[in-house]
Amino acid sequence: MTIKPLIILPDPVLRQVSTPIETIDADIRRLADDMLETMYDAPGIGLAAIQIGVAKRMLVLDVSKEGDDKTPLVFINPEIVASSDERSIYEEGCLSIPDYYAEVERPAAITVKHLDRDGKEQMIEADGLLATCLQHEIDHLNGVLFIDHISKLKRDMVIRKFTKAAKTRGAKAI
Ligand code: NI
Repeated sequence: MTIKPLIILPDPVLRQVSTPIETIDADIRRLADDMLETMYDAPGIGLAAIQIGVAKRMLVLDVSKEGDDKTPLVFINPEIVASSDERSIYEEGCLSIPDYYAEVERPAAITVKHLDRDGKEQMIEADGLLATCLQHEIDHLNGVLFIDHISKLKRDMVIRKFTKAAKTRGAKAI
């Protein structure tokens, strides 16, 4: 397992739409392991493949409470098939937008169809933090960031700040 460098805002890679995974083979399982290791190292509770520069529809997460046993989850080609009318608000952050947090409103409960790391079709009903985290990560697969759900004024401020920081690092800015 390898810890991979994270792609940081405003890198245009984060805006790519990821493509479905056709075959779940050893390479894909290795990618899942690398993503989990990178997520735990950060530390974070969710990570999409695009955040390490791989435009494939896979995400990993672990929303277990601190001190409890680790519960790593792998979602391949996840698809939201139902969303509740009821909505909830969580303060979200993102490993690709370090040290920035904002409240985001999303459906409180969702049903997600996906493949697990063995290629078996699964369906889960999620609420609470798991529902929020899944929606945040599935957004990444579509090139959407949590700052797209906040006001334009706040979003522009964050993008400006990170663009400036990227220039100082000598990175390519958009
Ligand atoms: Ni994120």
